[in-house]
Amino acid sequence: MEPDAASRPTSSLRTLISRLAPFRGALTVVLLLELGTRAAALIQPLAARAVVDGVAARADLMWPIAVLGAVAIIGLCLNYAGFYQRGKLSERFVLGLRKAMAGRIVGAPVSYVESRSTADLVSRVGADSTLIQQTTVKALVDLVVVPLTVVAGIVLMLTIDVFLALVVIVLLSVAGLAEAGVFRRVVVDTETAQEHVAGLTGVVQRVLLAFRTVKASRSERREAESFDRNADSAYRASVKAVRTGALADTVAYAAVDFTFLVTLAVGVVRVSTGSVGVGDLVAILLYVVYIQEPVEALTNSAGKLSEGLAALRRITELLDAPQETDTAAAPARTEVPAVSNGSKPPASRRSVRFDQVWFGYGDQPVLRDVSIEAVPGLTVLVGSSGAGKTTLLSLAERFVEPERGAVLLDGADVRDLPLAELRGRVAYVQQEAPLLGATIGEAATYGVDDVDEERLRRILESVGLRTWIEGLPLGLDTEVGERGVQISGGQRQRLAVARALARDSEVLLLDEATSQLDPLNEQNLVRSLTRDFRDRVVIAVTHRMPMAYQADQVIMLRHGSVHARGTHDDLLSDPHYRQLIASPSAGSPELAEQLTASGEDGRGEPGA
Ligand SMILES: Nc1ncnc2c1ncn2[C@@H]1O[C@H](COP(=O)(O)OP(=O)(O)O)[C@@H](O)[C@H]1O
Ligand SMILES: [Mg+2]
Repeated sequence: MEPDAASRPTSSLRTLISRLAPFRGALTVVLLLELGTRAAALIQPLAARAVVDGVAARADLMWPIAVLGAVAIIGLCLNYAGFYQRGKLSERFVLGLRKAMAGRIVGAPVSYVESRSTADLVSRVGADSTLIQQTTVKALVDLVVVPLTVVAGIVLMLTIDVFLALVVIVLLSVAGLAEAGVFRRVVVDTETAQEHVAGLTGVVQRVLLAFRTVKASRSERREAESFDRNADSAYRASVKAVRTGALADTVAYAAVDFTFLVTLAVGVVRVSTGSVGVGDLVAILLYVVYIQEPVEALTNSAGKLSEGLAALRRITELLDAPQETDTAAAPARTEVPAVSNGSKPPASRRSVRFDQVWFGYGDQPVLRDVSIEAVPGLTVLVGSSGAGKTTLLSLAERFVEPERGAVLLDGADVRDLPLAELRGRVAYVQQEAPLLGATIGEAATYGVDDVDEERLRRILESVGLRTWIEGLPLGLDTEVGERGVQISGGQRQRLAVARALARDSEVLLLDEATSQLDPLNEQNLVRSLTRDFRDRVVIAVTHRMPMAYQADQVIMLRHGSVHARGTHDDLLSDPHYRQLIASPSAGSPELAEQLTASGEDGRGEPGA
């Protein structure tokens, strides 16, 4: 529960009402049905009085009983219709919110999503929307209907007997205050219990994300204990909430009993003195019950409403998430027109150029005056971690935009290209190379609409997966675990590269996309890429020597600036470059030499 949850209830209520505005019609129907239900209930005591008085007067009871029965049946029908319509309205409201949230999340910029906790975003779409679905519309309707019911009930009682009505008002007010006091505690205790449950799921999520690490570091016991601690706290908080709930329930019962009995006692005296008839007393007693019941429902909903409003506030926050926009409408920053008709420029003109780019996250500068040009062939980016390599690739995909300078695709500023076009022309394999799609085939073609089988086969061949996939009983239809656990890191990376190749883009960005392959396999993969897709601009981030050895140009970043550029051989004279490639994970120049010399295109084990 966020600290300001309770401090802004009215603005949250206003948000709820404005969000419900498109459902004005349905909401009116629901209100009318609920008011009808309550009205039918309020008529019943009057009808009952007529029956009682009729008995006393030995009059014909046919009509009063018929009216009583009809009113009861109408009330039941209205209740059914109101309940159903209200539920349906809730569902439609939540459906709209959920769809809007999904749209806003996928439309948000990378920086927005990556700066937030996944668990938090997930709970807004899941738990928060469920909370709203269950309670909020009902609570809002009760907020309108119940006070009206109470006022109408009191007015009707006043028409029967002012004295008894006043007694009932005083008694109900006292009972209401007592109930509200206890109820506030129920709400607080329930919220505390929910917080502990959130802690519980947090532990589970953490464990699942790093399951192997938990196992390998023998931390099962520790994690289980941490889970137990949270579960115990949740239990204690829940039991406390149950205890307060029991108290609240008892207070509510006592209030009805007390009000009923006192009214009965006072009423009997008034009947005996002849001030009111027996029918009047019966009617008033029925009003005590019919008013008490909705008031109780309202106290209940009030708690739910505050929960629902807090959930709505978190959802609204998400709905206000910034969205990526095309800036195609802005005046073009570049003279070379964008290739906006979807046709590709001739390979000779293809290039990705970083022109005096400056960039920082917040006020932390990350890239300083970076100028790079990559043309068809392999450009390798090296640099120690934190040097800004991933950031550089992010700029080319326009996940982030430069503070100064520009990134140009075939001479056109990427900010002048529609995002869909830019990302269609620039394929990207992100660090960690996660897979999307349930099967190998889906993972290999994710985001690509039309891949013909022959091309896919060639691509899988290029990334060295074809033999392996064809050997699987289900081939491309083989399922992949949720986070690709049944396949090796190397296979996952190969699939990710295949997916990027299937896009048939001009530019391919690989962010340490071959890091889990052994040097020989990486070498083979890179060789087939540069052979089979020679007209593409490939920019690959790597820490590996052999890959740099094969590159047309190597660019070394240091503290966000281009430290050196040239071929691998050119750079060997640079002490920082030598230091970088001397690290054990980088492989040695001799290994690179041997690997290249060993020449033949032995596709290594894809299991690497
Ligand atoms: N989303 C981000 N918010 C703030 N700082 C970031 C973000 N991403 C990267 N950085 C910082 O920017 C610098 C460069 O990061 P990155 O481009 O990922 O480096 P590399 O890929 O070379 O390891 C690092 O200091 C890193 O901490
Ligand atoms: Mg990186």
